[in-house]
Amino acid sequence: MTTSPTTPAVPEIRKGLAGVVVDYTAVSKVNPETNSLLYRGYPVQELAANCRFEQVAWLLWHGELPSAAELAAFEQQERSLRALSPVVKRVIDELPLSAHPMDVLRTAVSVIGALDPAASESSPEANLDKSVRLFAQLPAIVAYDQRRRRGQHIVEPRLDLGYSENFLFMVFGAVPDEVTVKAFDVSMILYAEHSFNASTFTARVVTSTLSDLYSAVVAGIGALKGPLHGGANEAVMHLFDEIGSADAVDAWLAQALVEKRKIMGFGHRVYKDGDSRVPTMKAALDTLLAQADRDDLAALYDALELAMNEAKSIKPNLDYPSGPAYHLMGFDTLTFTPLFVAARVTGWTAHIMEQLASNSLIRPLSLYNGPDERHL
Ligand code: COA
Repeated sequence: MTTSPTTPAVPEIRKGLAGVVVDYTAVSKVNPETNSLLYRGYPVQELAANCRFEQVAWLLWHGELPSAAELAAFEQQERSLRALSPVVKRVIDELPLSAHPMDVLRTAVSVIGALDPAASESSPEANLDKSVRLFAQLPAIVAYDQRRRRGQHIVEPRLDLGYSENFLFMVFGAVPDEVTVKAFDVSMILYAEHSFNASTFTARVVTSTLSDLYSAVVAGIGALKGPLHGGANEAVMHLFDEIGSADAVDAWLAQALVEKRKIMGFGHRVYKDGDSRVPTMKAALDTLLAQADRDDLAALYDALELAMNEAKSIKPNLDYPSGPAYHLMGFDTLTFTPLFVAARVTGWTAHIMEQLASNSLIRPLSLYNGPDERHL
């Protein structure tokens, strides 16, 4: 509140809720001062180096890493839920190819929710089951949609493969090499969770009304689609296509900044001196660049990063290395943000369960600045 002896108190408005602390969370800690990100206390870099995405999903939901027996039971449950219902497939088939894959994914999750007879049960056990179901089925939706867009036959899940291997198998029809699988798994871990970002907060707002988990996830997908949030990984690849090559970067960036364009994949609301996840994802990207012998793309990447730093001192965020990494893995550009959803559904659902465990309806105030009271 801003007050003076003579004027009434005027509430301070923080546009975009910038800097506003709205609740506690034990799911993750983003610390821009130390440039660190902890999931349930563990540095994300250590998780990416030592764990598979299945272990990280369990950690986010349960607060601890799984024992060998817990992991085996979880994997069995997840694998048994991978196949899509024929209804979900039929609904996807009815959607035009002009629909963005994020719209297809949002619709498919809505259908999964409508088909679940326990959709409105909100006990921790019921919500955990729903979280595992979505975790297991999102890869099949992403794969189904990319393959139908390419006119390829649909590849059903394999139950003998881990999450990332099976994901890539369903998309490409074969299990790729280890470098690709590891880079993909690392990207899933890095994208899994990031405290009260826009889509997670959206999911928590929906949950706070005591709506169901599927509705909260559908809303989260809507928020993530925007280019200021998850849509940036797709937008980065469009930028690279637009710029063309490293030697065109300086002139292109000068013009883009004159036009006051936002350069996708750069900047962050919380991190102001670099995104803690970038070095790990950049290392994974480097393995893919070397494997594909793409010095041209590596040079373009470095040139834009350097030019942005010199011109604006703005550093890349996670979407900057992820975009080209997904491109080198063979994904269509429009599929990049759905991959982010497949990862972030773990964080969203962990937050949904946390919100419900200590719920209070999220309902802020606004300061009216329309016309004074008037009468007909
Ligand atoms: N390209 C060009 N300028 C940028 C920029 C970018 N990517 N990100 C921030 N800036 C500039 C703004 O123009 C502004 O400059 P000004 O003070 O001269 O007007 C200043 O930096 C502050 O930016 P602002 O948009 O107010 O910061 P924010 O905290 O609201 O924005 C983002 C954070 C992420 C929305 C913003 O950095 C952005 O739009 N990035 C591109 C999209 C993206 O990559 N999103 C993924 C985020 S993980």
